[in-house]
Amino acid sequence: MSIINIQNVTKTFPEGTKALDNVSLSINDGEVFALLGPNGAGKTTLIGVIAGVVQKTDGTITVLGKDTVKDYRQTRGTIGLVPQEIQVDIFLSIKKTLEYQRGFFGKRKNEKLIEKTLKALSLWDKKDAPVGSLSGGMKRRVLIAKALMNEPKILFLDEPTAGVDVELRKGMWDYVKELKKNGTTIILTTHYLEEAEMMADRIGVINKGKIILVEEKKTLMKKLGDKTLEITLDTPIQKIPEKLTQYNLSLTKDGEKITYRYKPGQTGITKLLANIKECGISLKDVETRETSLEEIFLSLIDNNNETKTI
Ligand SMILES: Nc1ncnc2c1ncn2[C@@H]1O[C@H](COP(=O)(O)OP(=O)(O)O)[C@@H](O)[C@H]1O
Ligand SMILES: [Mg+2]
Repeated sequence: MSIINIQNVTKTFPEGTKALDNVSLSINDGEVFALLGPNGAGKTTLIGVIAGVVQKTDGTITVLGKDTVKDYRQTRGTIGLVPQEIQVDIFLSIKKTLEYQRGFFGKRKNEKLIEKTLKALSLWDKKDAPVGSLSGGMKRRVLIAKALMNEPKILFLDEPTAGVDVELRKGMWDYVKELKKNGTTIILTTHYLEEAEMMADRIGVINKGKIILVEEKKTLMKKLGDKTLEITLDTPIQKIPEKLTQYNLSLTKDGEKITYRYKPGQTGITKLLANIKECGISLKDVETRETSLEEIFLSLIDNNNETKTI
């Protein structure tokens, strides 16, 4: 069942930037949807128009069947929003911040909810500290706690782990999984593709304001995932020799590794390795693995930013 329905939504900012270009998308109840795209693609704007905090230029959005403009208070009430930019009152304690947030949504005091949320986000022992005294990673977790104060059906996480160290990131995602288990629908954007790979049921890719792909993560990984042969070189090279351009190869920035993407069962690896040797390149190591989402993503959003069809 769909919980959010976006139809032909366009957003043009007053000075002319078309941040969303005829976006149609449906989000399923209870899923984790990862929205990926390069900087400036329109991710934050899309989240903003769904939450009703950015005014769309055109199109219709419904949340739980209600229009986000006509029934703003109702739809906004079902949404928790963790913004990309940290915006908090630095003088308020964490606990007060959360209490005020509940009040903002017209919700009754709920000490238990605050305690449970802060404990889950490892913030409980800091509950009386002014938010301004916290590290960046802690502030971001306060934003998550804040977004949960209206007990939302839908949670938007806009790059929630930016600036949060690796260990805490894991804890955050464990908590997000917990929320999903309890039926919360989650839409997230992240720069760490391994996080999308780990968390998402479906993946959407947006580029220049257009949705260019929506797919089950599993299907996407299967369809494009294929395999990668990673060839570590004895000595780094500057570029891939002309002779090898017939293969689907790419060179890492440091020039130390050549990667070859191929379909499982595809032959020709022996020939490729022989051809590489013929070019005078000697190999240190050869390894095969599944292609990561990061590589799939980069091949979608290629250098000249043209939309590829798969
Ligand atoms: N308030 C704004 N005023 C004008 N242009 C904006 C504003 N917010 C975003 N944009 C522009 O809209 C485009 C999409 O931005 P954004 O949604 O923030 O992308 P993303 O979150 O994917 O990085 C960018 O070109 C950005 O510069
Ligand atoms: Mg953004």
